[in-house]
Amino acid sequence: MFAPTYHAAAKTLHWLTAVAVLGLLGIGLWMTGLPISLLKLQVYNWHKWIGLTVLALTVLRLLWRWRNPPPPLPDTVTRWERALAPVGHWALLFLLLAMPVSGWLMSSAAGVSVAWFGVLPLLDLVLPNPDLFEALRTAHFLLSRALIVVVVLHVAAVLHHDVLRRDGIFRRMWPSGRT
Ligand code: HEM
Ligand code: HEM
Repeated sequence: MFAPTYHAAAKTLHWLTAVAVLGLLGIGLWMTGLPISLLKLQVYNWHKWIGLTVLALTVLRLLWRWRNPPPPLPDTVTRWERALAPVGHWALLFLLLAMPVSGWLMSSAAGVSVAWFGVLPLLDLVLPNPDLFEALRTAHFLLSRALIVVVVLHVAAVLHHDVLRRDGIFRRMWPSGRT
């Protein structure tokens, strides 16, 4: 008998999102300091396209999760950890929606329409408005800092379980983990 793990679909969505989000945080922190140039414009576009892909993956993940709840935690997980785990996961899921939506709103408020990977034109969510643009830019910045904090805590929690406790939490999400 193997301990239950996340379904392959949930694992695939998790790792695609994790790689994309770590990339987006790195690109985001780098790109704002670039001088105005064609490179900056291209990097901003890629940031937006990948960010919107994360939005689509998160909507898919929430739909999947609604029908397929996470597997039960092993008995070794204490009562307070059991209470805290969903809070951390919901904080991540909220930020995975709030980051791309605030970015999309920010682009619209700046009067810049987004075409996903240059092929799928998206709606402008709001009319151009410089004050709203500044507010959304600040929101995107603050949300990105909150995301960094929650991701660091998330990875620390996984390391705590697997390095100190060795209770197999990482295997629940790792592709070769067995159900
Ligand atoms: C999960 C998705 C996303 C993450 C993690 C993310 C992360 C970041 C980060 C870390 C920054 C740098 C903030 C700073 O230090 O000033 C940034 C900036 C920016 N992001 Fe995102 N972003 C995401 C999605 C999006 C989307 C979907 C759009 C637009 C459609 C977008 C548009 C922008 C723009 C325009 C900036 C530059 C703002 C400025 O020039 O001050 N982002 N993002
Ligand atoms: C930006 C990066 C990441 C994001 C946004 C993220 C997001 C999430 C979310 C939302 C869940 C909950 C899944 C659900 O219940 O539907 C989760 C679970 C999990 N993540 Fe991550 N994750 C990231 C990086 C990582 C990394 C680097 C690791 C490994 C060190 C990791 C290991 C895990 C594990 C093991 C679980 C399952 C925990 C459990 O069994 O309850 N994640 N992650």
